[in-house]
Amino acid sequence: MIEVLSVASEAYPLIKTGGLADVVGALPSALAPHGVSMRVLLPGYPKVMEALAASGREVWFYPDFFGGEARLIAGRAGGLDVIALQADHLYARPGSPYLGPDGRDFPDNWRRFAALGYAAYDLSCGIVEGYRPDILHCHDWQSGLAPAYVKYNPGSTARTIITVHNIAFQGIVGWESFNALRLDFAAAGDGAIEYFGNISYLKAALATADAITTVSPTYAHEIRTASYGMGLEGLLKARADVVHGILNGIDQHAWDPSRDETLPQTYSASTIVNRAPNKLALEERFGLAHDDSPIFAVVSRLTWQKGLDMLVPLCDQLVERGARLVVLGSGDPEIENGFNGAAMRHPGRIGVVIGYDEGLSHLVQAGADVMMVPSRFEPCGLTQLYGLRDGCVPLVSRVGGLADTVIDANEAAVEAGVATGVVFSPATEEALSEAIRRTIALYERPKVWHKMQRRGMKSDVSWEASAEKYADLYASLLGLERDADTDD
Ligand code: ADP
Ligand code: GLC
Repeated sequence: MIEVLSVASEAYPLIKTGGLADVVGALPSALAPHGVSMRVLLPGYPKVMEALAASGREVWFYPDFFGGEARLIAGRAGGLDVIALQADHLYARPGSPYLGPDGRDFPDNWRRFAALGYAAYDLSCGIVEGYRPDILHCHDWQSGLAPAYVKYNPGSTARTIITVHNIAFQGIVGWESFNALRLDFAAAGDGAIEYFGNISYLKAALATADAITTVSPTYAHEIRTASYGMGLEGLLKARADVVHGILNGIDQHAWDPSRDETLPQTYSASTIVNRAPNKLALEERFGLAHDDSPIFAVVSRLTWQKGLDMLVPLCDQLVERGARLVVLGSGDPEIENGFNGAAMRHPGRIGVVIGYDEGLSHLVQAGADVMMVPSRFEPCGLTQLYGLRDGCVPLVSRVGGLADTVIDANEAAVEAGVATGVVFSPATEEALSEAIRRTIALYERPKVWHKMQRRGMKSDVSWEASAEKYADLYASLLGLERDADTDD
């Protein structure tokens, strides 16, 4: 059994702001059949501590940890083996994991996530009797210092992996914080953590981890180029031999339209007509008029990354072409206002819910016709995978994981019976407009459309293949031969 400690700032179902949580929450059970035992180290946010209230027990006490008392609390919650870093001076506060109620980053995020990395390092040194993980699997910048502690501070023999879910977030803090990080002084000398005069937690991980993974093969190539590397492409090119692209899967129990009891009507690939009551419920929920036209949908952070500023000016055209639109999301005020304005101009044709609503996201996927993900960059993307699973045909730009998971319905692909969605490039307003036109034309060919829906629903969006790749990577870092029997 390989013992892995996954280190992250979110894990579904305990705490989630995006796809990172889905992946961190899904990995332990995906990896269990492959001989991997995985615990998850999380900051002790109020929601995490509540979930651990019944089963949690203190396994370590820090009298003074990054400015206050702290405890490591181990227990089982949300189907996960969790270790929470309970440090009330860092995490017991309202707001999201990263932002206060005023919508601004907490000013001490550098300290909050240095503490998380340090606790991971401590655990890898074996501070808790009977538990010493072989591998620290770190996710994104929030856990980025852990591999640096392992490399520069004494006492840990763990191997380390950083998974990049989004290279846009690099965890950059002023150099004046260095002394408070408890990082060995050697780390200051060799350039590994320094980024244009500051400290970057993500760069620290990319420079010091034994392996680097990202969440799709295409993104693994893209981040080694100036267009997508966001300044870190040079380092990634230099470390190309340890960079791997491993595609995300989805939790097929949480996303299963044939068993999802939150839906007005369950359905499967062979009973796809049963989506109709869900579409009706969606119309009602978003105040849309009832007719036979396609409903395009967005379930997303409303940001530049997601390309949704390009959709705002196309709303009028989409309605003129006879289609409808529902938007569930929040983010940039300008994009929110843009969609709200479009909904006011087109009552009954465009419906907008600003906010985050997990339950409603299931109804959208199970009731709408088209899931739009027109991202400028997309490390993997999960909403197009949920769309495939639910028969909500994805319309995506050809970047990152979107390019790796959706097969464009050009005529050759339609003829060959392999298309699963509409893929466009480049990620521009013009190309998106053309993709919307093409999607409506496909919807007007019901046989082609239904086949495409069914094919999507049957396509493999599971963790199977990728869990095996992670397990192989862990084994190779530990110099182990994997026993073929553990794959089953
Ligand atoms: P990212 O992590 O970049 O935001 P992903 O596609 O990987 O993008 O994951 C987004 C996750 O967050 C998905 O599980 C999606 O369903 C969910 N999500 C995004 N916005 C909302 C929302 N407004 N309400 C409910 N779920 C949302
Ligand atoms: C990030 C990326 C998204 C990816 C998710 C999970 O939030 O933006 O593309 O699917 O992480 O890996």
